[in-house]
Amino acid sequence: MQKFIENLPKAELHLHIEGTFEPELLFKIAQRNNIKLKYGSVEELRKAYSFNCLQDFLDIYYQGAGVLMTEQDFYDLTYSYLTKCAEQNVRHTEIMFDPQTHTERGIAFETIINGISKAVEAAKQNLNVSALLIMSYLRHLSEEAAFKTLEQSIPFKEKITAVGLDSSEKGNPPSKFKNVFEASIKEGYIPVAHAGEEGDAGYIWEALDILKIKRIDHGNNCLQDEALIQEIIKRDLALTVCPLSNTALQVVKDLKDHSLKKMIDLGLKTTINSDDPAYFGGQVNQNYIDTQKALNLTKEELYQLAKNSFQYSFLSDSNKNTFIKELDEYYLKNK
Ligand code: ADE
Ligand code: ZN
Repeated sequence: MQKFIENLPKAELHLHIEGTFEPELLFKIAQRNNIKLKYGSVEELRKAYSFNCLQDFLDIYYQGAGVLMTEQDFYDLTYSYLTKCAEQNVRHTEIMFDPQTHTERGIAFETIINGISKAVEAAKQNLNVSALLIMSYLRHLSEEAAFKTLEQSIPFKEKITAVGLDSSEKGNPPSKFKNVFEASIKEGYIPVAHAGEEGDAGYIWEALDILKIKRIDHGNNCLQDEALIQEIIKRDLALTVCPLSNTALQVVKDLKDHSLKKMIDLGLKTTINSDDPAYFGGQVNQNYIDTQKALNLTKEELYQLAKNSFQYSFLSDSNKNTFIKELDEYYLKNK
């Protein structure tokens, strides 16, 4: 099973680039920027990665991201993740980035987007990994601040495919961002949002009806509401599920209790993703491997999850079909 998963062609649809920041690289970049960290060593920092909830994690994640200063820093971070994609047979990835985490510290939007997108271009050439970008608004900040970010993004519009919504969910419902999502859609961005990770089913309804999202990040709590489940199926929206993130942030107690299998059985379109792999103890393949073991997933279910990852990506139909053909050939030989 492990070999089957490792070699399975797949896409990753829920990944925060700031969440791929491994302690080793973080220390290296802090050093070259003359930034002194609160933690004395890589080991000490890694030990701090223990969380009771989403906010615990976000506090440390924003601290880590605070050492990124130059275009080279953003390039190195992104290229390092894309190298891991190539090693895991991740053929395509849709990378979220949080501009406000950096612009709030005085880093220019241009520095962030150029560093990330140059790494994406290089990975296409050197690693044969395809990638596109999702600009995420921080929901703990105001809608006005999100509007400012939207404005800053316009000159770089052709480098960005979608907009997302992340950070502290509870108390920051999707409706807070109604106008900026409307404006983002007008600019041609595809809307997605984190919903139903810690927030209840009502947050998912708002993301669907008010933000008009085309994919649901997490979405675990849709299971609270039968009508919502049916609506998600009717609209053919996929959920980007992140199993190791859910256990790390205590959204789910044990992987054995994870509702992914139930979601599949209900007919929801699901995908497996790593969210913030440097913080949650596993890259995307580890998420597949651990979840397969915990829920006894079959090869056919794993194949379907990988197929969904291409099908529900924001690639063109022709690119989707190319990847799905590659996946089908692999599955026929290895099932
Ligand atoms: N930012 C990075 N990871 C996140 C998550 N899992 N939920 C909300 N915001 C995030
Ligand atoms: Zn996330």
